[in-house]
Amino acid sequence: MKDTVKTVFITGGSTGIGAACVRKFADGGWNVAFMDINAADGAALAKECGVLFVEGSTRNRSDLDAAVDAACRQFGGLDCVVANAGIHRCNTMLDISEEELDLMIDTNIKGTVHTLRATVPFLLRRGGGSVVINASDQCYVGKPNSFGYGLTKGALGQITKSMAIDLGPKGVRVNAVCAGTIRTPLTETLFQSFADITHGGDAGAYWKAEAALYPLGRVGEAHEVAELMYFLASDAASFMTGGLYLVDGGLTAG
Ligand SMILES: NC(=O)c1ccc[n+]([C@@H]2O[C@H](COP(=O)([O-])OP(=O)(O)OC[C@H]3O[C@@H](n4cnc5c(N)ncnc54)[C@H](O)[C@@H]3O)[C@@H](O)[C@H]2O)c1
Repeated sequence: MKDTVKTVFITGGSTGIGAACVRKFADGGWNVAFMDINAADGAALAKECGVLFVEGSTRNRSDLDAAVDAACRQFGGLDCVVANAGIHRCNTMLDISEEELDLMIDTNIKGTVHTLRATVPFLLRRGGGSVVINASDQCYVGKPNSFGYGLTKGALGQITKSMAIDLGPKGVRVNAVCAGTIRTPLTETLFQSFADITHGGDAGAYWKAEAALYPLGRVGEAHEVAELMYFLASDAASFMTGGLYLVDGGLTAG
């Protein structure tokens, strides 16, 4: 047990931005525990980085409690939580099904709330800590065919602010990261659905058009988001709380 170093608990760490966070915190010398429904990629990443992986869904509070318990038994407590797990589906207000609306809310809002309720008491036991929530540039702008996603990510912005006010006096900082388009398994799948609507199924053309929206002329990479999440988690961000921080290649500047 390495109890002199800090411990982070990350949700959705098997692929994409969460996996980049697992690597970044592990490289930074943190104890890392992460949880994901994707057991194959999670186990492989845990082996690669020498960290703790627990299979489970943030939609189930009992899965979270079991994963947090495993992390605390191995590392003696928690100093930081990265609430990263999330999903995206292609829909508008008029065509989203009840089932898909529930899925988005259960995963992106309730899954995040379950994560926070399962972990924050352990930060408080340590006398403070840091929460980093993976929200979205959709806290700032609307996007086509992203109704369910936008409504859930907007809620995470508000959750960030409410929690920062309630927990600041108790030594817990709470911030959100708002990324533009990042190339991950999530967008690889999603953009095929978008391309089917707007580019005759040509996903390559869709990615090209997406990149052209960005002043930097490209979409982002997962490690570029992990850098910001790691900074917000660290003591270097000691006076930062309640903020929604963009890492969006300038998309929302226009
Ligand atoms: N990729 C982007 O452009 C982008 C932009 C802004 C924000 N985000 C957010 O970043 C986060 C990570 O997304 P990503 O792009 O890396 O996608 P991703 O699909 O690669 O990663 C998401 C991870 O979360 C896991 N997951 C999904 N539902 C889960 C659940 N209920 N319980 C536990 N794990 C679960 C998945 O298995 C996966 O490993 C999401 O919250 C997403 O909304 C992504």
